[in-house]
Parts: sequence; C-alpha cells; structure tokens
Amino acid sequence: MARIKPVETNRLVLRELNEEDFEDIYQFKSDQKVVKYLTWGPTNREQTLHSLRKQIAFQTEENRQIYVLAVVQKETKKVIGNALFIIRDQDCQTVEIGYFINSSYWKQGYGKEIVNGLLYLGFNTMDIHRIYAVCDVENAGSVNLLRRIGFRQEGHFIKNLKVKGQWRDHYLFAILKEEFKGM
Ligand SMILES: CC(C)(COP(=O)(O)OP(=O)(O)OC[C@H]1O[C@@H](n2cnc3c(N)ncnc32)[C@H](O)[C@@H]1OP(=O)(O)O)[C@@H](O)C(=O)NCCC(=O)NCCS
Repeated sequence: MARIKPVETNRLVLRELNEEDFEDIYQFKSDQKVVKYLTWGPTNREQTLHSLRKQIAFQTEENRQIYVLAVVQKETKKVIGNALFIIRDQDCQTVEIGYFINSSYWKQGYGKEIVNGLLYLGFNTMDIHRIYAVCDVENAGSVNLLRRIGFRQEGHFIKNLKVKGQWRDHYLFAILKEEFKGM
C-alpha cells in the first residue's frame, strides 16, 4: 500500500504529510521537552524541512516501509503531532509505531486517540498482525499511554539505545490484532 486514506478519531484526523505542515511540525520537533527521550532532535528549521521532504517522498515509494502521518486537530486544522508506522517485517505483518505531540497538547487524551487511530489503521486497513512500540523506561507519558490502551509489556532492554549521549533502557510493548477492542 502506498498512500493511506485519512483516519478520523473523535477530535483528530491522521493523514499523509504535505509541505504546508512545516511551521506546525517545526514547533514541536524543535522543542527539547518533546524530543527528550528520542534519538534525534531538537531539530532546526533546515533539518525539519529536510526530514519533512524525505518523509513526503516515502509516500510514493514502491514497497513503502515508513509512514509518517500528520496528526491534525479537526477543530483548528493545526498539526499537533506526528504518528508513524515502520514496517519492520512484511512477511510477519509486524509494524513498529511511534508518536509525538506538541507539548501544549499533552495530557488531554490526544495520545490515546492517536494510538487507537494507528491500531485501527494497521489492523483494519493494512492487514497487520502485531503492532509494537519501544519506549524509554522513564518516559512515563508513553509507558502509561501504552498500558492504558492494552499493550502488553514483553521486554525490558538494558542500555538499548544511545539517546543524547547516554545509554538508555527501554520497554518493548506489543498488541495483537485479536486483542484490539476497536476505537
Ligand atoms: C507520550 C505522549 C504522546 C503522551 O501523549 P498525551 O496526549 O499526553 O497522552 P494522553 O493524554 O492520552 O494520556 C495517556 C495516559 O498516560 C497518562 N500520562 C500522560 N502523560 C503522563 C506523564 N507525563 N506522566 C504520567 N502519566 C502520564 C495519562 O494520565 C493517561 O492515563 P489515564 O488515561 O489513566 O489518565 C506525549 O507525552 C509526547 O508527545 N511525548 C514526547 C514524545 C514521546 O516521548 N513519544 C513517545 C516515544 S516512545
């Protein structure tokens, strides 16, 4: 599958990116708080535009593996975050998900809407069997979000990834298609 059809949740739309999203995306990718537990960032304007263009180019790739989506607030049309799928193993129908939100919109239930939207997309339209996420053990927002949705903790990786110059521990969370209760 190349481009995805937009998915609506209660207050959000998850859709493909375009270059007009740049200013909104720059707001959160340049924010230290948002990228604290991520391997990249904060990014400057040039880096943000470069990665946005690369992500848009993925949309027309044959055997597309990376889907980075805009998370749009329906009411304001503002892009308040990014949600992503990375197809790690086509044969096993397994994907990794990721998400990050503008810090002004944290703790308002948007994370739950985004992850449920990704699960809906993966399990109902992409024929995915297992969805997993890897997150820093100290990233309480992400750990609580995944537990709340019903992901199972399957692993604890020690000194798994170097983030901002430090080796960090990560949890592996996963959910199967038959475990997803719907949005
Ligand atoms: C992780 C993130 C997406 C959470 O988004 P959010 O919109 O704040 O999440 P929600 O409001 O849907 O909250 C989900 C659950 O987690 C809890 N939670 C959210 N942030 C929390 C925090 N900082 N500490 C403890 N619990 C938190 C909420 O209370 C809620 O639980 P509840 O339903 O039992 O009340 C957001 O903090 C973010 O973008 N962080 C930076 C990027 C990032 O780390 N991404 C994840 C990489 S693995």
